[in-house]
Amino acid sequence: GKNNKAFNVAVIGLDNSGKTTILKRLNRTDPTRDELTAPTIGLKVRKLRVNSLNLTCFDMSGQGRYRNLWQHYYRDCDGLIFVIDSSDRLRLPVAKEELELALNSDDLRDRRVPLLLFANKSDLKDSIPAQKCGAMLGFNKTVDVNKPWWICSSNGLTGEGLEEGFEWLTNQIK
Ligand code: GTP
Ligand code: MG
Repeated sequence: GKNNKAFNVAVIGLDNSGKTTILKRLNRTDPTRDELTAPTIGLKVRKLRVNSLNLTCFDMSGQGRYRNLWQHYYRDCDGLIFVIDSSDRLRLPVAKEELELALNSDDLRDRRVPLLLFANKSDLKDSIPAQKCGAMLGFNKTVDVNKPWWICSSNGLTGEGLEEGFEWLTNQIK
């Protein structure tokens, strides 16, 4: 039935933004959950069950040399997550550019794929508040994006904000 179907979620964002940390935090049975993460090489598939849905998450590497892999996971994705290091002010313009590239790609441009933005590392004192982060990436209440989107602040280390975000995303997918 529908509850056994797995939905694909592409998880993208610059290197060091916290993608792997977030996905590990959400998997209570991951034995490496509390270990420090290493930068992802290429990508890693992570299966999660959230809000009664089975998700197959594609945990992409954000390093420059691997970013061209992201596009191959757009066509079959049911949801897209973009993780931002909200304390990395210098690279916010780079994050914006990469997000625009993704949303303008052939396989996303005309599809109403729900987009969840995590303004991660909200615990750091230099972090930019989620709404401002979104605005800096071109997302605010008045912008006309052809996709449902949502931004929330998160802390990958404690899990704060993750449930809210994933609840929104899974409700969009359901
Ligand atoms: P790539 O795989 O290289 O693309 O990076 P990534 O986006 O998967 O980042 P990763 O999860 O490996 O985290 C990078 C670093 O940020 C690690 O040292 C994490 O412990 C740290 N980190 C992740 N989330 C948070 C957070 O919310 N707050 C703080 N302070 N550190 C975080
Ligand atoms: Mg990673």
